[in-house]
Amino acid sequence: MIHQKDTNINRLMNNLKYANGDKMPRIGLGTWKSKPGEVKDAVVTAIKAGYRHIDCAAIYQNEKEVGEALAECFENGYVSRRELWITSKLWNSKHKLEDVIPALQQTLNDLNLDYLDLYLIHWPIALAPNSVFAQSGEDFLTLDEVPLTETWQGMINAKHEGLTRHIGVSNFNIPKIQQLMDAFEEHPEMNQVEMHPYLQQKELFDFCANNGIFMTAYSPLGSGDRTNKSEDEPPMLEDPAIAKIAADHACSNAQVLIAWSSQRGNAVIPKSVTPSRIIQNLQAREIELSEEEMQTIANLDRNYRFIDGSFWTIEGSPYSLKSLWEE
Ligand code: A2P
Repeated sequence: MIHQKDTNINRLMNNLKYANGDKMPRIGLGTWKSKPGEVKDAVVTAIKAGYRHIDCAAIYQNEKEVGEALAECFENGYVSRRELWITSKLWNSKHKLEDVIPALQQTLNDLNLDYLDLYLIHWPIALAPNSVFAQSGEDFLTLDEVPLTETWQGMINAKHEGLTRHIGVSNFNIPKIQQLMDAFEEHPEMNQVEMHPYLQQKELFDFCANNGIFMTAYSPLGSGDRTNKSEDEPPMLEDPAIAKIAADHACSNAQVLIAWSSQRGNAVIPKSVTPSRIIQNLQAREIELSEEEMQTIANLDRNYRFIDGSFWTIEGSPYSLKSLWEE
């Protein structure tokens, strides 16, 4: 299965086209960190501004409010269900085979939908069924106890039941994707990972491209609104090379970061709850970076993770940063 991803023309198109013809708009609205009380207006504003792709997850704990926004947009005729691309993600405590479809059904209930366009395994980390986040070693299950292949079988079942049109993974590295590809004929169609000029993920990017797996870039702006940030984080949004390119295009630094992700061939999901930013982020699809500018940005790579996954490696956890990102 090779996607239309490799020609320059396709890189500049606004959609990723799946093997079955479904089109996923490259720029979507991110909803991680969008608080209840903010996210409904953000989604309605985005859809009115022309967004047709909303990225959600059960663990963002705001899917009910996203669902209210979607219902309002359908009722007012701003958009129809078929015109929208909705992604959501299976939380880590629902990895057992029998838990996958009920978790997806809960998400559909919350979002007021009867199918998703894309459902992803959120992390290659298993938590005990009653845990939400990990506070001690007891909250974890190992991947021997709940293999990723078991979870993937649940995802395939969900797709076959028509609850989601496409299935994929998030935060997966090459060996973990390979494990699923070796075990099943139905391969992940998407891998959503942190990706931006400071973390370009070149090896993973090439692996996914060569295997017909699309990628979505999360935290494309560096997720400056996270809690628990480390003080010495590099201010990517203010990077001088990005600022210079932005000045040359008379656009914002954020728009350069979004255009770079999209032009590289990926989907990208900048989060905002600010109407003017929501609008400008979508307008990044009108920016065309030159080859020289793309190369300048390629040179900024420093393998820097804003979200390094260390919340999965607390004392007593069976996971390590090495097992998460490398094994
Ligand atoms: P806000 O939601 O208050 O508008 P990421 O997508 O990497 O997670 O980054 C999200 C952060 O970037 C949020 O703090 C968001 O702020 C901010 N942001 C979103 N769009 C822009 C923009 N166009 N310019 C500057 N900051 C932005």
